[in-house]
Amino acid sequence: MQQLIEDLGVLDGTEACETVNVSKENNTGKNRKLYIESYGCQMNFSDSEIVASILAKEGFDTTADINTADVVFLNTCSIREKAEQTVRNRLTQINTLKKQKPEMLVGVLGCMAERLKSKLLEEEKIVDLVAGPDAYRDLPQLIGQVDDGEKAVNTFLSREETYADISPVRLNSNGVTAFISIMRGCDNMCSFCVVPFTRGRERSRDPYSIVAEATDLFQRGYREVTLLGQNVDSYKWSHEENNKAFLEKKGINDVVNFAQLLEMVARVNPELRIRFSTSHPKDITDDVLHTMARHENICKYIHLPVQSGNTRVLEVMNRGYSREWYINKIDRIREILGEDCGISSDMITGFCTETEEEHQDTLTLMDYVKYDFAYMFFYSERPGTLAAKKFADDVPEAVKKRRLQEIIQKQNEHSLLRNQRDVGKVFTVLIEGHSKKSTDYLQGRNSANKVVVFPKEHFQKGQYVNVLVEKCTGATLLGKVVS
Ligand code: SAH
Ligand code: SF4
Ligand code: F3S
Repeated sequence: MQQLIEDLGVLDGTEACETVNVSKENNTGKNRKLYIESYGCQMNFSDSEIVASILAKEGFDTTADINTADVVFLNTCSIREKAEQTVRNRLTQINTLKKQKPEMLVGVLGCMAERLKSKLLEEEKIVDLVAGPDAYRDLPQLIGQVDDGEKAVNTFLSREETYADISPVRLNSNGVTAFISIMRGCDNMCSFCVVPFTRGRERSRDPYSIVAEATDLFQRGYREVTLLGQNVDSYKWSHEENNKAFLEKKGINDVVNFAQLLEMVARVNPELRIRFSTSHPKDITDDVLHTMARHENICKYIHLPVQSGNTRVLEVMNRGYSREWYINKIDRIREILGEDCGISSDMITGFCTETEEEHQDTLTLMDYVKYDFAYMFFYSERPGTLAAKKFADDVPEAVKKRRLQEIIQKQNEHSLLRNQRDVGKVFTVLIEGHSKKSTDYLQGRNSANKVVVFPKEHFQKGQYVNVLVEKCTGATLLGKVVS
């Protein structure tokens, strides 16, 4: 549900940090049991499915009950200090369990593993194994090392690894919507951001393996895929030289960009919805917007994080665009995809040197765009980033938090306004399951990614229905199915 959750003054959403995903029960009862908890962005959730797949091949079962687990993995996030603190608190809890069950293997995966490397073993005595995001194929070997009584670490970052050939085990799946990683890493070096250091260089996955995964999901009853990358607009794949003759013969493109990839996935089946995240304001092209307009099944929703509405702050952030450039992109989206296209954002308050006037620019930009939804954060300095090296974290915490409250309040007003515009309209909704509040109601999302709730009647998960919106809150549209 696109609901803002206030937590210690920081707003985190489904895409952001500190959400917990517990692995699904899938037991044959014969083998060692793996329990995985994921934190952070969807990339991490998607990676946990790759980890489960790699270990399933080695005979591991998954369990949703940590008490029955032989191997416990936390797939971690480093994006803000609080994300790391959450993981450390969880390790302390798990320590109590480990005291009763000393043979239980505890591993830290993901971005915190990559950032801290073997230091994590010294800082958190309970940890047996540390594996960075590009080291998951090595997990069976690393587990073997722990079985032999050693601690195990692999935080090697690769320039090639995309796990393209691994078919993820869908954990926690509703059987209708799934994520597909299309690229890994990030080359952008936004000055506040730890991701380039924890995920390494950007690389794009073979588009034909992406289409094959989408096709397989469709055949298994899935009706929506979300293509994932830190900056999907810089997706670019070119086949190896030695493949060239073969591919030319088959009439396959030499180089595939993001607009072309979208087109390829959209053609899998008109009944398969396509979403994608995250778009970058400096890289999103008209070509992408036109491709979205051409295909009914590419959802009309763009997550286009602005971070700040002030050009000088954007420069200090090294975002590669100005306020005017960003506004121009919003205008293009509205021109090509219309007013109903959903637009959401990420914003940071109190970044180094941000003045009160510059903060006001973020508020006026929000007034211009009127986002449907936003993930909002106050700046958290991350060791090793460009900002940590070059600039003082000079906005007092109280000021950061006050500015955050101001943008949250504005966003709440805009979310409600944008939802009120939808009352009286009919939307096609893909049903994802029961509403959170009652099993008498179902919920799904419309093309613009808004959650729509309606009476269950005889409708089923995975079906498309047309819903007339009768009322709304800032987070949800409520209505009834019409023929
Ligand atoms: N690749 C995406 C962002 C991934 S991180 C993009 O470029 O938009 C998700 C969000 O976390 C960012 O958009 C940013 O708003 C926030 N974030 C990243 N680093 C942060 C930091 N040091 N402090 C606070 N928020 C941060
Ligand atoms: Fe971080 Fe910027 Fe890359 Fe996004 S684009 S992951 S904010 S460096
Ligand atoms: Fe967090 Fe790593 Fe994602 S730092 S936001 S889990 S890429």
